[in-house]
Amino acid sequence: MNFPPDFLWGAATSAYQVEGSPLADGAGASIWHRFSHTPGCTFQGQTGDIACDSYRRWREDLRLMRELGLRAYRFSIAWGRILPAGSGPVNPAGLAFYDRLVDALLEAAIAPSATLFHWDLPAALDDRGGWLNPDVAAWFAEYATTLFRVLGDRVPLWATLNEPWVVMDGGYRHGPLAPGHRNRFEAPIAGHNLLRAHAAGVDAFRASGASGQIGLVVNIEPKYPASDSPADLAATRRADAYMNRWFLDAALSGRYPEELAEIFGEAWPAFPEQAVAALARPLDFVGVNYYTRAVVRDDPAVPDLRATRVPQPGHAHTAMGWEVYPRGLFDTLTAVRDRYGDLPLYVTENGAAFDDPPSAYADPLPDPHRVHYFREHLRALRDAMAAGVDVRGYFAWSLLDNFEWAEGYRRRMGLVHVDYATQQRTLKESARFYADVIRDNGTAL
Ligand code: FCB
Repeated sequence: MNFPPDFLWGAATSAYQVEGSPLADGAGASIWHRFSHTPGCTFQGQTGDIACDSYRRWREDLRLMRELGLRAYRFSIAWGRILPAGSGPVNPAGLAFYDRLVDALLEAAIAPSATLFHWDLPAALDDRGGWLNPDVAAWFAEYATTLFRVLGDRVPLWATLNEPWVVMDGGYRHGPLAPGHRNRFEAPIAGHNLLRAHAAGVDAFRASGASGQIGLVVNIEPKYPASDSPADLAATRRADAYMNRWFLDAALSGRYPEELAEIFGEAWPAFPEQAVAALARPLDFVGVNYYTRAVVRDDPAVPDLRATRVPQPGHAHTAMGWEVYPRGLFDTLTAVRDRYGDLPLYVTENGAAFDDPPSAYADPLPDPHRVHYFREHLRALRDAMAAGVDVRGYFAWSLLDNFEWAEGYRRRMGLVHVDYATQQRTLKESARFYADVIRDNGTAL
């Protein structure tokens, strides 16, 4: 099987992770600015103040994209650059940054794929309750409408939210990510409001008359039972409902998996059936971020979920400690198709952190484990497409080494190495490999 001629080969980044200059040109601070500047929240207190300096070096990054032959670039827009207070007055200088970027991408024949929200909520909105305030759906629609009005004629692919599950779980349930809450009563409310915002964003898009397509980006980590015991099978179902089905069931089918009430117990609000049904919208595509899998066993000691990941010693793992499991991408794509029907999918993120040699070592920089990771996952992707899954494109995470949230800069996931002391970019061998894949449209895979 060959990839279709118009298959969209891309790479992805997000605003706070690469841009730097978070307060430049009138931008309002985000919760990630605030969080990373709070002692103890990120590795060695690292922040996105400079990151890859892409806010200023984006032309150089665009040259790298051309060198790789990318057909698409997935980036995110920093809400606080557009609306510094999250809602209210628009900041023209912030808009102009993305306006220029989009024009330059189009000129280079690289399709812009814009994500509206990749975790950097304006701090001013967090002060008003953030994702816990029901008004957040209207704030998001206002922000989205501003962008559809300015960029809607030129951006072919839009995503409302990146990984709402991670925002809910990391931001409100377990707290390693901004805003760092640990509250089982808040988490379902944040999740519900994220879904309401997504729906309002889709409505704003349809109302705007913009010409492109809009979808939702979710993280999927397929769950495999550690044994055939009924307890392990039930634990696996809970883990799957919690991480993989929660947001897609609601956004596409207007229901919450029944396991959620069991998982959260008294902390699960009695959402009226109608309110949940109102979350569903027809989407033009679903974006799937895939990194790893989990083998799951029953574990009564774990609050709420009562399930635990079983380590897989002897298997390959990335520097994040994530098992390398290419078959999981095949299983993920086929599972999404089987559950939600035949809608267009994109792999919006896939990639691996490894400890690369320093950039002075060689050019291109050898990163054999990452090359292997990409090759095997692209083969799994091809297999899923051969099995009939309608996948329209693939985005490597990431174009550049960047600020990996609470992990700071110690986790390198780029196709391109960044020397943070000098901002020098050096291609890795995985970048060369990916450029070859793109050039022959995956034929040699
Ligand atoms: C995903 C995020 C992305 C990046 C990768 C490693 O959860 O969407 O920003 O951090 O993980």
